[in-house]
Amino acid sequence: MQKVLVTGGAGYKGCVLVPKLLVAGYGVIVYDLMLFGSAGLPSHPNLKVVTGDIRDSAKYADAVTGCDHVIHMACISNDPSFDLDPSLSRTINYECFEPLVLASKSAGVKRFIFISSSSVYGVSESPEVTEEHPLVPLTDYNKYKGLCEPILFRHQSPEFTCVTIRPATVCGYSPRMRFDLTVNILTNHAYNKGIITIFGGEQQRPNVHIDDVCELYVKLLAMPAEKIAGEIFNGRRNFRKRSRFGSNVRPVTISARTGSPRARSPKNWTGTRSGP
Ligand SMILES: NC(=O)c1ccc[n+]([C@@H]2O[C@H](COP(=O)([O-])OP(=O)(O)OC[C@H]3O[C@@H](n4cnc5c(N)ncnc54)[C@H](O)[C@@H]3O)[C@@H](O)[C@H]2O)c1
Repeated sequence: MQKVLVTGGAGYKGCVLVPKLLVAGYGVIVYDLMLFGSAGLPSHPNLKVVTGDIRDSAKYADAVTGCDHVIHMACISNDPSFDLDPSLSRTINYECFEPLVLASKSAGVKRFIFISSSSVYGVSESPEVTEEHPLVPLTDYNKYKGLCEPILFRHQSPEFTCVTIRPATVCGYSPRMRFDLTVNILTNHAYNKGIITIFGGEQQRPNVHIDDVCELYVKLLAMPAEKIAGEIFNGRRNFRKRSRFGSNVRPVTISARTGSPRARSPKNWTGTRSGP
């Protein structure tokens, strides 16, 4: 049985990803500081849950021993949290990144998937934000995601396949919910207040459903290395290289139908899941 270590695996995405990995037949090690607890994880004979800090090199090296793959998601995952203590956040989101990659490689890991973010592009007027678009980070959270990417690729080798995904903002249900994400905020307000507030109304923001993006991560583990090694892929609308993965990544684009900042009813906005 192949083993996958998921850093940050007890978080919003992790609690959806981990059951999918188990169903796909992988042994899973969740390595997480449990900032939000671990109640969203299932009990399963093939799941081992380690409470650990990615900055703890010795503990991480121990946990990753014997693993075939790493999916690296642990971080301080939004701007307000990052800004609570920028120096501390930097140690988690940036400074420990290369030691983590090196420890994984030394342990014999064959594939390392880094979950970056589409926020590395900043705000763009371009209709097609493909992977070649310049990185214009607006916050430290975005900046350090972008800075980790070239570090990872320095360690790409035939034995160590390195891939970066830049996912759009994620939406949908997880046992460990995040209500700071655009569509989840709108859904919460629609359900609990019967009102959605839209600021502006002309802008578009790419979103992707949590099931779809987690299925992409599972698929990446089995992709032939030559199709993905040393590559960066957007996980969003205009998923230019999507054909390499098949057609399972279904983007969600939210566009406001009204410019009114006080849209009174959920009917005033549309959420469209465009086809693959
Ligand atoms: N959710 C989104 O919309 C979205 C979009 C693009 C990219 N991402 C990226 O996907 C990844 C997962 O996002 P999420 O929404 O599940 O975030 P999350 O905040 O729910 O999960 C992050 C997890 O990392 C853990 N963690 C934090 N610091 C740690 C440390 N020092 N050592 C070990 N574990 C630590 C936390 O305990 C938490 O369980 C992140 O890298 C995030 O930047 C998320």
